[in-house]
Amino acid sequence: MQLILGIESSCDETGVALVRVPAGGGLPQLLAHGLHSQIEMHRAYGGVVPELASRDHIRRVLPLTEQVLADAQVALADLDVVAFTRGPGLAGALLVGAGVACALGAALGKPVLGVHHLEGHLLSPFLSADAPQFPFVALLVSGGHTQLMRVDGVGQYTILGETIDDAAGEAFDKSAKLLGLPYPGGPELAKLAEGGNPQAFKLPRPLLHSGDLDFSFAGLKTAVLTQANKLGADLPAHKADLAASTQAAIVEVLVKKTVKAVQQSGMQRLVVAGGVGANRLLREQLNAVCAARGIRVHYPELHLCTDNGAMIAMAAAMRLQAGQQQADCSYAFDVKPR
Ligand code: KG4
Ligand code: ZN
Repeated sequence: MQLILGIESSCDETGVALVRVPAGGGLPQLLAHGLHSQIEMHRAYGGVVPELASRDHIRRVLPLTEQVLADAQVALADLDVVAFTRGPGLAGALLVGAGVACALGAALGKPVLGVHHLEGHLLSPFLSADAPQFPFVALLVSGGHTQLMRVDGVGQYTILGETIDDAAGEAFDKSAKLLGLPYPGGPELAKLAEGGNPQAFKLPRPLLHSGDLDFSFAGLKTAVLTQANKLGADLPAHKADLAASTQAAIVEVLVKKTVKAVQQSGMQRLVVAGGVGANRLLREQLNAVCAARGIRVHYPELHLCTDNGAMIAMAAAMRLQAGQQQADCSYAFDVKPR
């Protein structure tokens, strides 16, 4: 049995979690996790302020670690590996997690392991009771990435398609900003869209018929801006309709390309991960089209869709189990923002 602590600090959430790797094999189990969101702090600025993010991670990470260890009734000295998000993310924010992980590792004489943030998202559905099995096609939709990939096992990832400009989360966030919605835009736009008509405005579905599995969302944001400008003083009365139309455009492209990727791969399993995976319309539409085609869809639990420490601890545990990577005692705390 191994106990692995995971620390996430790449952006605006401080996450710490503890997983146990069963001695006899089998999926690692989440023992406890703690999360502190900085959303309230950044809201006044309309987006994440990197310097404030770093400072808040410093304030939160040790109390969260103490809380997680207490919740799991595990002593600090019993940890076997300390994992942290190595990147991508904000450099200063990443350095907080890396610094704390390396300091803990050095003090305890235990190895540390840097984890790729996206691999954390990708493997987060393994934390749910209904965990997927390899191989599968994954749709990774976060604030910074939109990728379709074939996943044959831990560390065996083949990119099938990705965005050539903005990520899906970015499209949600930037459109929300154009509609005057507060940060974080994605969930706010989704909420507003609930009361709107998705057919009210004709917005582009970029690359929908491109024949490949790539995405492009930059043009959509421009179309939303054009529409908002056209409405002018009438925008408030049509805001929900414009939000619903925007969401429908993003979701339609994501769903169609994803189903195409699954069908082309010949697989019957899909994993959806990353913050946009929390979107209700995306889940509804994917569930419906996949059910009709006999494709099983797996998501992380809703509260583990956005950034958290559990996915980092889990990814570290699965990598170590698969022999894909080894924790080490160099304590170099190098981060990879990009
Ligand atoms: O995975 P994540 O927490 O952070 C990154 O690694 O980027 O994803 C954050 C993104 C943001 O763009 C946010 O607006 C979006 O996920 N998001 C949503 C929803 N919840 C979060 N977008 C649409 N609908 C939601 N319910
Ligand atoms: Zn993320």
